Amino acid sequence: MILSIESSCDDSSIAITEISTRKLLYHKKISQEEEHSLYGGVVPELASRLHAVALPEILKETKPYFGKLKAIAVTNQPGLGVTLLEGIAMAKTLATLQNIPLIPVHHLKGHIYSLFIEKEAILPLLVLLISGGHTQIIQVDSFERMEILATSMDDSVGESFDKCAKMMGLGYPGGPLIEALALKGDEERFDLPVPLRNSPLIAFSLSGLKNAVRLKVEACGGKENMSEQDKADLSASFQKAVKLHLLQKSKKIFTKVDIKDFAIVGGASANKYIRSAYENLCAEFGKKLHLAPLAYCSDNAAMIGRYAIEAYTKKMFVPINKIDIVSTKKQQNAMLL
Ligand code: KG4
Ligand code: ZN
Repeated sequence: MILSIESSCDDSSIAITEISTRKLLYHKKISQEEEHSLYGGVVPELASRLHAVALPEILKETKPYFGKLKAIAVTNQPGLGVTLLEGIAMAKTLATLQNIPLIPVHHLKGHIYSLFIEKEAILPLLVLLISGGHTQIIQVDSFERMEILATSMDDSVGESFDKCAKMMGLGYPGGPLIEALALKGDEERFDLPVPLRNSPLIAFSLSGLKNAVRLKVEACGGKENMSEQDKADLSASFQKAVKLHLLQKSKKIFTKVDIKDFAIVGGASANKYIRSAYENLCAEFGKKLHLAPLAYCSDNAAMIGRYAIEAYTKKMFVPINKIDIVSTKKQQNAMLL
């Protein structure tokens, strides 16, 4: 069995996965959304302190498995430095005490393997990753070979939902709040630009759209003067522009890359409006759409454990004094190639 730990942002999570059967034997996650919602976003120092309380609390429940563990897996990048270190410190201690190897896991590769929890991997695969930190289309040829085909030049999809929600005074995380409000809104009411609509670039950009939302909030007299209907209409119009942007750039990739299987992963892949738009797009292009169960779209240790099974069979271990976090965005992205 592998014990896996995830603490890259605001979710403390631990899982136990059986190596030979891929069975998820134990999984728990404690989210910090409520604590961070007071600030409209994740406060790293607070997140780190909350991990320091939550991780040992969860770990206690996994004691019955301790004699059967073959490795400890932990997210080591990308993420918030101070929160990654909480998980890494715990992983190093456990690996040392149990005298078993340590497996560092790239968080984004973990998201990709969220598709394969308790299942065999389906490869090659084209993946749209939409999370709080990243927006990318990745060509996954094999476990070893993954190539980023498109990436965001500025904000990520999840981040744009969070920032627009904050502008309207909705709370954090913004994704589910905007999705729910949009159901009651008119997506044609506000005229918002679809990013890079006339550009041949195969890339994403969300910051211009975010600024356009800011101007609409101001035109309504600020968040204090917006009615519930104004907020619902702006949420729906924003969500529609994000959807059109994602679809437009995905179409360009679909015409270039001949891979039948396509998947969406990451926290924002829980969005049903975006999911259903991709069901239609995939039907149009003859692609088979794969989605992770809703419970495994946002950060969790089950996906880290699933990835770690493959790493374990390939003996991708690191000595405990060699595991590190990579901090710059450029380095983080390079790790995926
Ligand atoms: O993958 P994740 O849990 O963490 C990162 O790796 O960043 O993604 C979190 C992000 C947040 O920005 C959150 O607002 C967004 O996913 N999200 C959504 C939805 N649920 C979560 N965005 C849009 N629609 C949703 N339903
Ligand atoms: Zn994530």
